[in-house]
Amino acid sequence: LVLVVDFGAQYAQLIARRVREARVYSEIVPHTTPVAEMLARNPKAIVLSGGPSSVYEEGAPGIDTGLFTSGTPVFGMCYGFQLMARGLGGEVAHTGFREYGRTGVTVSNAGTLLAEIPEQHTVWMSHGDSVTAAPAGFDVLASTDKTPVAAFEDVGRGLAGVQWHPEVLHTEHGQKVLEHFLVQIAGCRQTWTMVNIVEEQIEAIRAQIGDRGRAICGLSGGVDSAVAAAIVQRAIGDRLTCVYVDHGLMRKGETEQVERDFVAATGVDLKVVDAEKRFLDALAGVTDPEEKRKIIGREFIRVFEAAEAEILADGEEKVAFLVQGTLYPDVVESGGGAGTSNIKSHHNVGGLPEDLEFELVEPLRTLFKDEVRLVGEQLGLPAEIVWRHPFPGPGLGIRIIGEVTRERLDILREADAIAREELTRAGLDRDIWQFPVVLLADVRSVGVQGDHRTYGHPVVLRPVTSEDAMTADWARLPYDVLERISTRITNEVREVNRVTVDITSKPPGTIEWE
Ligand code: XMP
Repeated sequence: LVLVVDFGAQYAQLIARRVREARVYSEIVPHTTPVAEMLARNPKAIVLSGGPSSVYEEGAPGIDTGLFTSGTPVFGMCYGFQLMARGLGGEVAHTGFREYGRTGVTVSNAGTLLAEIPEQHTVWMSHGDSVTAAPAGFDVLASTDKTPVAAFEDVGRGLAGVQWHPEVLHTEHGQKVLEHFLVQIAGCRQTWTMVNIVEEQIEAIRAQIGDRGRAICGLSGGVDSAVAAAIVQRAIGDRLTCVYVDHGLMRKGETEQVERDFVAATGVDLKVVDAEKRFLDALAGVTDPEEKRKIIGREFIRVFEAAEAEILADGEEKVAFLVQGTLYPDVVESGGGAGTSNIKSHHNVGGLPEDLEFELVEPLRTLFKDEVRLVGEQLGLPAEIVWRHPFPGPGLGIRIIGEVTRERLDILREADAIAREELTRAGLDRDIWQFPVVLLADVRSVGVQGDHRTYGHPVVLRPVTSEDAMTADWARLPYDVLERISTRITNEVREVNRVTVDITSKPPGTIEWE
């Protein structure tokens, strides 16, 4: 176990992921955690993240300097680097120089941390203060034009740090630097794999559920709920029932994929509820996005509760456990960290209410999304499910701008299927985070096809890249891919005569249009 101490930087999660990419298990703790508590968990090493503040600011988060003399190896990044320098008697100063973004560093003495890394390379910086003198006993390894001490180490004491952010993609050799610390300096063994995770989780779920009844899992067709269900199925077999609510707002082929491929791969007991009419009736005449979401959420709960009643065996009063695909970022963001005391119930599937009386089973609580996909592969789930892009609970209902009707859904389903097919054919699925297609159902524009004037609807392509959906950029899809999508949609979907591309980043735009 490696603990990543979060000083309020947006980078802590990324650091934890990078540590795991080095096949060392890591968890995030807030900087307010007492050092004694961190050490009590017996970590192999501790990583101090960056932070937004200056170490001199009033109320700037600090750390008990006892950490540095505890014998546990510590790696400081950016703000964490400055805390280490100051905590051990080095100097940190307002030099008046700031470095933001790409910065060149010069390695003067590679030592252990920067071994085999080019003397000149580019890193990502974001700091105002600088370390001007390293603490006694440390070797200075690198500098920049403006920062005399940009990296240091004291291998004997297991301490090291860098002023830059090794975790971001713009930093060259960042992962190598991190691994040098973890393996060479801290002596971590690189043994963390998805096979271990699956085995551990199956054991943990058996221990949690024991013989205390049945579990239910709402499948959305997405990767998280599918992987969560597959693990629980391995643990308790047919005491798990999965419920898939077909609200009629799914994409083309999705329901069949769950009904056929997922069941074939897992042997899960699946109940499919066909609720299309119910949802479309409830949505009739509604155009306001928030109202649509509320209606879909409400109907979902009703259908789910009715399904629960139906799956009970004779003599059973209720289903005791609800399986959810909650991921580690949700847990960290709700302050849950290590313990289970502060669980926010995330309602991944259609927004189940707080007062449903279930005990939660959350086998993915410690995992990041990319790890969930690897677990899914490990479990033999179909690639179409494992690599599926995130899809919102309210489905295509919030991708039709205007009233949602069966006819409009069919139009959008066809256009969306073409866009996804062409993306897959171009081999770009894994480069693109999400690719919504939006139907502007209340807009019409004039076109010409053959000799005929047309008066059809536009669709908007919204391909984005992202790491976590909090921020996103519009994806620069190759022109030839866009061209194929456009030609096919306007040829094959009669009601659509115009294809446009959304080139707005998030912020200011959101990923979805509603
Ligand atoms: P936005 O549009 O806010 O979306 O940039 C961020 C991410 O969340 C997804 N999303 C939802 N997921 N229920 C969900 O399960 C919802 O109501 C919902 N709304 C947006 C969206 O697809 C994107 O991945």
